[in-house]
Amino acid sequence: MAIKNAKLKIKDCNGMGMYIHIPFCIKKCRYCDFYSLPGKNESDLDNYVRALLKEIRIRGEQMPAVQLESIYLGGGTPSMLDGRQLGSIIRACGDNFTIIPGAEISMEANPATLDKAKLAAMEAAGINRLSLGVQSFFDDELALMGRVHDAAAVRETVELIHSRGWENFNLDLIYGLPGQSLKRWWQNLKQALDCKPCHLSLYLLQLEEHTPMGKDAAQGRLQMLDEDEEWRMYNLAMEYLAERGFVHYEISNFCRPGWECRHNLVYWQGREYLGLGAGAVSFVAGSRYMNQPDFKGYTGALISGEQWPIKELERMEGRELMIDALILGLRLCEGIDLAHFQQRFGVDISSEYKGIIVQYMNRGLLNIENGRLSFTKAGYFLSNQVLSQFMD
Ligand SMILES: C[S@@+](CC[C@H](N)C(=O)[O-])C[C@H]1O[C@@H](n2cnc3c(N)ncnc32)[C@H](O)[C@@H]1O
Ligand code: SF4
Repeated sequence: MAIKNAKLKIKDCNGMGMYIHIPFCIKKCRYCDFYSLPGKNESDLDNYVRALLKEIRIRGEQMPAVQLESIYLGGGTPSMLDGRQLGSIIRACGDNFTIIPGAEISMEANPATLDKAKLAAMEAAGINRLSLGVQSFFDDELALMGRVHDAAAVRETVELIHSRGWENFNLDLIYGLPGQSLKRWWQNLKQALDCKPCHLSLYLLQLEEHTPMGKDAAQGRLQMLDEDEEWRMYNLAMEYLAERGFVHYEISNFCRPGWECRHNLVYWQGREYLGLGAGAVSFVAGSRYMNQPDFKGYTGALISGEQWPIKELERMEGRELMIDALILGLRLCEGIDLAHFQQRFGVDISSEYKGIIVQYMNRGLLNIENGRLSFTKAGYFLSNQVLSQFMD
């Protein structure tokens, strides 16, 4: 039962990733714009899993040579599925694709949905990494966000995770909440570390206008923090976590040495992945395409043996693929190896983008060192601004 996941180093990774979207949540959080439907309807869940099993089989037939180095069940809230459903999904992946020994099999979970039996079922299914949506250790912050659990539930869940021997787990936190002080954020970080995770994902609150919190902010009922305060929070996290032995390996992600999330590395290293389930995105042979975020259309079509709704997002060639790899690669703190990049795409970034690079180096946001182009600490925080220049 102990989950001592054998870790592959970043450079050992060469398989594909598979993302499986589970578009259900107990209740919609007030900030969330992800494709997920609130409420638990057993027959919807069951039908959705039936449809997923069919999609896994069809995709396996289409791409029999695929070797998976990671499978990631995300959402929504995959931990709403029961042990039988989780087991059937992972088994279907193994029956229809080659899963590389030691592959990372991750699942996102909401603290309100985990108990001892669920964890045991996850272990039996072969899931070996857990990503827990914590967001905050304060009840008032959790209430503001409309979370279905309180801080005590988070602590109980973490205790349970430890009691079953799991080492490979992540906690998600959100910072920059309206009214959040720097001290509160520091206390959140401190309590997160007390949980002894090997990985932390720290997300700055992003609000779309159509979400309840987005509406409150747009209509002045919620006051967002200013950018300087958000930067102080991010900077505090970088310093605090570095002092405690965490490696900052991607703009929003920190881990104990060697515990990078291999699935996310597949994305940032510009490698191919398959996305299964309603709303999931795939990247194969230069094309990015999405299963339409339409639970009913997806389930109905697959169960009745028809083509499910898919939308091509972008078909990239040559230069577009190069820019895509540049933008994804810069998200990694190790940055981009300029010589390797030139070998792969035939482009010398430092001369091709000299104007942008020099401009942002002068502003202290980009850096070239030991043949690698990377963001500085201040650059991570303003990365969207810089990356949009490369896209233009
Ligand atoms: C799919 S959820 C994780 C699992 C589960 N659904 C949960 O929330 O407990 C992925 C993570 O994205 C982050 N997230 C979602 N919406 C966000 C937003 N609007 N701003 C910042 N972070 C967000 C949260 O930290 C959340 O845990
Ligand atoms: S944050 Fe997670 S639990 Fe909340 S609505 Fe979004 S996907 Fe569901």
